[in-house]
Amino acid sequence: MFLVTGATGSLGRRIVRQLREQETPVRAFVRLFSRYEELEYRGAEIFIGDLKQDKDIEKACQGVDYIISAHGSGSDTQALDYRANIELIDRAKENNIKHFVYISVLGADRGYTDAPVFKAKREVEKYLVASGLNYTILRPSGFSNNLLPLAERFRETGIYLLVGDPQNRSSIVSTDDLAKIAIASVSTEGAKNQIFPVGGPDVLKREDIPRIFSRIFNRDPIVINSPLFVLDGLRSALGLFNPGIQRSLGTLRTLLANEFYCTPQEINNLESIYKIELESLERFLLRYLGS
Ligand SMILES: NC(=O)c1ccc[n+]([C@@H]2O[C@H](COP(=O)([O-])OP(=O)(O)OC[C@H]3O[C@@H](n4cnc5c(N)ncnc54)[C@H](OP(=O)(O)O)[C@@H]3O)[C@@H](O)[C@H]2O)c1
Repeated sequence: MFLVTGATGSLGRRIVRQLREQETPVRAFVRLFSRYEELEYRGAEIFIGDLKQDKDIEKACQGVDYIISAHGSGSDTQALDYRANIELIDRAKENNIKHFVYISVLGADRGYTDAPVFKAKREVEKYLVASGLNYTILRPSGFSNNLLPLAERFRETGIYLLVGDPQNRSSIVSTDDLAKIAIASVSTEGAKNQIFPVGGPDVLKREDIPRIFSRIFNRDPIVINSPLFVLDGLRSALGLFNPGIQRSLGTLRTLLANEFYCTPQEINNLESIYKIELESLERFLLRYLGS
């Protein structure tokens, strides 16, 4: 039995779908008011709880063989990115879980001090490595599904809003591939007790994205490039009223100001360990949106 946290999220939903396609038993940790009907329909066991409640985590971990931690935090990084994962790891040890898969983030080890999510993820990684559990830590770059609404808007208007340096590189990963890799981690010998950067097959510059949209929808792009200082100004202004929001925006700023890509060697390594051919962003978008 797998336990998947964040089961209604972009990644978690795909993990649960793929597990059920293989008819593998899975317990989906969901909140009462989230949209979990599809997971139930697919035959997942629904566990209703809140990851801010230790007793819910304790109950959810009972009778489980594998845990995939794939939840996000909104703005409560301390409670969800950090505490809930520490609690999951402690309960995993208590229940002799066979393998723990943790979804971290590319660049978690770069010491970004202004990005709470990166800091929390790095501390959880260290805690998991020291726990004695079998683990796989996946450090993905940005997910391809984030671009679906932007592509839809582009289809309607031809407009693409590019924030920051158009030359900044990333290796956007197919969220479906990442789900596949997360599941395979518990049964792939080369993935045991490893940390992997995970990206798509191409290193893309930000300016490449409207070009891809343009090819898919056969439409000339209108690119609006907003410099990062616009976000900085907004962040400072919001900080006067709400220091919490100012802190959270630090993670967004870190994502926009830096490059998050995998080297060709890292991608080759991933493809050979998991015996997978990673999907390009263009292929992912075509599959979801057609032409
Ligand atoms: N998105 C990216 O580009 C990206 C890139 C690198 C790493 N990551 C990491 O990958 C993981 C998955 O990201 P994602 O984009 O799939 O996340 P997402 O779509 O934002 O989903 C977040 C999930 O966490 C759940 N959740 C939030 N608070 C909860 C609580 N108190 N109790 C129980 N569940 C709670 C949400 O449930 P509800 O449906 O109830 O809100 C949802 O299922 C995250 O750890 C994220 O940091 C994401």
